[in-house]
Amino acid sequence: MSKEVVLSGIRPTGFLHLGNYFGAMRNYVRMQNDYHCYFFVANWHSLTTHPDTKALKQAVKRVIAENIACGLDTEKAVFYVQSDVPEIAELYLNLNMLAYKGELEKTTTFKDKVRTQPDNVNAGLLTYPVLQAADILIHRAVKVPVGKDQEQNLEMARNFAQRFNHRYGDIFPMPYAFNYGGELVKILSLDGNGKMSKSENQMATLYLADEDDIIRKKILKAKTDSGPTETNSVKPDYIDNLFTLMKLTSTEDVVKKYEDDFNNSSAGNCIIRYGDMKKQLAEDMINFIKPIREKAAELQKNTDLLDKIIKQGADKARASASATIELVRKAVLG
Ligand code: ADP
Ligand code: TRP
Repeated sequence: MSKEVVLSGIRPTGFLHLGNYFGAMRNYVRMQNDYHCYFFVANWHSLTTHPDTKALKQAVKRVIAENIACGLDTEKAVFYVQSDVPEIAELYLNLNMLAYKGELEKTTTFKDKVRTQPDNVNAGLLTYPVLQAADILIHRAVKVPVGKDQEQNLEMARNFAQRFNHRYGDIFPMPYAFNYGGELVKILSLDGNGKMSKSENQMATLYLADEDDIIRKKILKAKTDSGPTETNSVKPDYIDNLFTLMKLTSTEDVVKKYEDDFNNSSAGNCIIRYGDMKKQLAEDMINFIKPIREKAAELQKNTDLLDKIIKQGADKARASASATIELVRKAVLG
């Protein structure tokens, strides 16, 4: 049986952070061994919010270097740049005819962007989910490793695929968001305000490029409170987030100690010391981030290698994309 096709993308709009790692890249690295994987840098998507392209080329290379530093193997997975595959734009055009203004206007990310960039509500922003659907369907992918924030975009991709199949014939399988273990991941910002993200509060975002002392500073400033006052309290989400980060980077013993301390706190007797917990987390996080940061920095200096990787990825991605676009042309235009 041939392997299932996997696809995912990351926008080159800034430095990659822990949310990207645990929501997406950690899965890429595992999936490359079990599936036929396509991963790409979504540089067209970044134009919907970042029209100034001065820093774009370098940002594309940084995303590639950071992914490789995290363990992505470009011999196992196809890794390419979106704009190197014009077939995606052609599929996007076709899917646009099946996407309705009303449903696009209702998507959460579009409504957020209307609020945050009211002076640039462009049509690309409105049709962002259509381009994302084209990214996925161009390789007829079925599994899409992404964080929880992408669920709605995946649902829309299925809708467009279904409409296409219904009208022109069965070409596309249905794609679903994927995470090992089932639950999609959402890493919160360290200040407790929403998800960790490339463009939000930088002091509350842990980047894979952060130096040791910055990591320490950010974690020690993370939002906490005076601690639980009852045994087995429910954790507020900003505390739960610290535990999530600890589970991802510390040893089981360390996590267990702080879980026990949290759960055994009772009236007037708060056992857990968030100051100590954050110090421990900071050191474990440094051990986690440092090798990635150093390897990514090293790779970014090797522009010949990165150019070679980009070229190789483009060739492989286009081979798959052109097969799909041939089917689409035949189905739609005969
Ligand atoms: P950002 O939102 O930081 O700009 P992208 O939109 O490029 O990042 O997202 C790339 C991948 O990282 C997507 O799969 C997305 O779901 C995942 N991701 C981004 N932020 C988080 C987060 N805070 N928690 C979990 N996954 C996330
Ligand atoms: N919209 C995704 C994000 O913001 C990035 C992306 C673009 C993507 N195309 C994709 C993710 C296709 C998965 C599949 O994170």
